[in-house]
Amino acid sequence: MAIEGPRALVAGNWKMNGGVAMLKEPRLLAAMLKDVKLKCDVMVCPPAIIARRVKSVLKGSRIRLGGQDCHWAASGAHTGDISAEMLREAGATAVIVGHSERRTNHGETDELVSKKATAAHRAGLKAIICLGETLDERKAGKTLEVLSRQIRGSIPSGSTADLTVIAYEPVWAIGTGLTPTTAEVAEAHAHIRKELEGVVDLEAAATRILYGGSVKGSNAAELMGTPNVNGALVGGASLKAADFLGIIKVYA
Ligand code: 13P
Repeated sequence: MAIEGPRALVAGNWKMNGGVAMLKEPRLLAAMLKDVKLKCDVMVCPPAIIARRVKSVLKGSRIRLGGQDCHWAASGAHTGDISAEMLREAGATAVIVGHSERRTNHGETDELVSKKATAAHRAGLKAIICLGETLDERKAGKTLEVLSRQIRGSIPSGSTADLTVIAYEPVWAIGTGLTPTTAEVAEAHAHIRKELEGVVDLEAAATRILYGGSVKGSNAAELMGTPNVNGALVGGASLKAADFLGIIKVYA
């Protein structure tokens, strides 16, 4: 596969899955990747409560640790929340913010997502900022408009390519087995890249734009080979090492 642009990232978002019994999967993945020459970075984002355990399992491997969400504050009276600094202390190098499940289930706005991304940057973490349209928005021909609005609202000004990763995740493709056509992915990613240049102070060409939504071994090569796609944010297929490896190997 021809790979252009910034070094790709394949990140696994475990969502609310995986207790201690799941630790065997990253252990297995680390062993499977040991002697594989990869042209991408690999990351797993487990539930925060087992982040440290996962980090210790990954010791000595190139697989990085990420968080799934953070609060915008560094500390304080925020019951049940976790700060970017805490994730950093647990060994994370990145945190996902603005996932559509947070936007939908927790009413998170672009403004809040932007504050969380700022918090990630403050802690020295990469912010993996998620964007994506709903099915109704796509049907109404509003996809690019929605992406523009989310980019303007969710990406803090002054963000750098090093600490910012964009994940395009069409809401209707998440966990459904449905994926956009490669033409639709190419259109969305080209639009995001163009908007990054115009709207925020990012080095657009150097910023990684991941695709997420029903990525699996059987469609990864096609999706990852689409122009302006610099990796994947994977949900369900990241839970089993063998499945996740099938996606990562696109970059071997
Ligand atoms: P699935 O890969 O399960 O569709 O989930 C995608 C996702 O939401 C990753 O953040």
